[in-house]
Amino acid sequence: MEQQSLNRDQIHMGFVTLVSVVAAVGGLLFGYDTSVISGAIGFMQTLFHLNDFMKGWAVSCLTVGAVIGAAFAGFLSDRFGRKKMLVVAGLIFSIGSIGSGLANEMTVFVTARIIGGIGIGVTSTLVPLYIAEISPAKFRGRLVSLNQLAVVIGISAIYFVNRAIASGPPEWDITTSWRWMLGLGIIPGVLFMILLFTVPESPRWLQKQGDSSRALRVLERLNGPTEAKAQLEEINESIKRETGSLAALFRPGFRIALVVGVVLGILQQVTGINAIMYYAPSIFQNTGAGTNAQLTETVIIGLVNLVFTIISLWLIDRVGRKVLLLIGAAVMAISLFIVGFEFNSASPSSMLILTFILVFVAAFAISFGPVVWLVISEIFPTRIRGRATAIASVALWAADYLVSQSFPVLLSGVGPAKTFWMFGVMSILAFVFTISVVPETKGRSLEEIERGWGRKTRINHPEHRPK
Ligand code: BGC
Repeated sequence: MEQQSLNRDQIHMGFVTLVSVVAAVGGLLFGYDTSVISGAIGFMQTLFHLNDFMKGWAVSCLTVGAVIGAAFAGFLSDRFGRKKMLVVAGLIFSIGSIGSGLANEMTVFVTARIIGGIGIGVTSTLVPLYIAEISPAKFRGRLVSLNQLAVVIGISAIYFVNRAIASGPPEWDITTSWRWMLGLGIIPGVLFMILLFTVPESPRWLQKQGDSSRALRVLERLNGPTEAKAQLEEINESIKRETGSLAALFRPGFRIALVVGVVLGILQQVTGINAIMYYAPSIFQNTGAGTNAQLTETVIIGLVNLVFTIISLWLIDRVGRKVLLLIGAAVMAISLFIVGFEFNSASPSSMLILTFILVFVAAFAISFGPVVWLVISEIFPTRIRGRATAIASVALWAADYLVSQSFPVLLSGVGPAKTFWMFGVMSILAFVFTISVVPETKGRSLEEIERGWGRKTRINHPEHRPK
């Protein structure tokens, strides 16, 4: 008997994992688009005679598209469903890939990259949210973070793809290789769309739409019949208590949830991760490293990011989100200050700088990388989860745009030492914010988390209580 129910649990867990892995292919697209440009931009600069400003714009216009995509993802997914919007995002991403690969002038290229970015804005917002809505509380952290794992795999894998493509004659590299790098994005894009047809719509969204029978069927496949009924009940109770209007977010209880989501999103970026992800070779150039060493160092960064993301997956449901964020912020601050001091010294040691940049990346990978996307997907009420998550996601992408656009200017303006100290100060703020405001969500169902906001701030306003 016990053996039988164990087997059934394993089957359900297998299905949940499979569905999460399919959704996480969206993370692969995110990672692909983040790093493909680093291999393409040099050749494009030669072909299109780009000045520094245009080069920066060609790299960062993706994040502008992502801000737009994130903004629309919320409203549209609350209305039309999570799954449908993910399929649309795969399509938009694929169009952007082909368009940027075929572009013959910069305006077309930038437009295509912004279109691709819109797809990334949607997937980055909705993949964590979708996985959070289908996962059992006990493993939700790990399952949602599969998305971050896919982002990181995408970032590292594309680096090797770029290298393999860019091995032709210099003339071919300049005119054609970068087109393949960007255009091949259509493969994961189309794969994502096809795979999505095998996964169910989110049961929480179905229930919100009043489709209890489909919601129950999906819950049964995800958790088994007994568990499914209890869950549906809980989801239903929660939804009845909620209002569907975004104004709910500005009432005292959920206002804190909004602050947590938005501020964590901004902190994930202003602590400097993408200064390193997008500009690692230029940073190492500042330490006097040669071109080959710069490339090797970039590969090592990718590997460290990958290994520590896997460690985080293992820890996230065990030690919890808050502990990881605190450890991460502390170690990030210390390593950023050391990197700053090294750059400030008369003869900076490139070895020490590399070491502490790696420590920083490792600390980010166990904490702010996966945990921020996870917490953003967990803390909002079901009826407005899409729109609320999107607000946090827009803030995150806008901060990403600001950092990636201003980093080269900061580097040549105030210099690397002060720039890294600034990121260090942001990491201290991240520590203080986490310890004082961020709640622990480990092991609690989405409905329990929602009730927690009410209890914490005594906002269980009469109109929100079940009658
Ligand atoms: C961040 C990205 C970053 C990536 C690096 C993600 O969580 O949102 O901006 O490039 O982690 O691994």
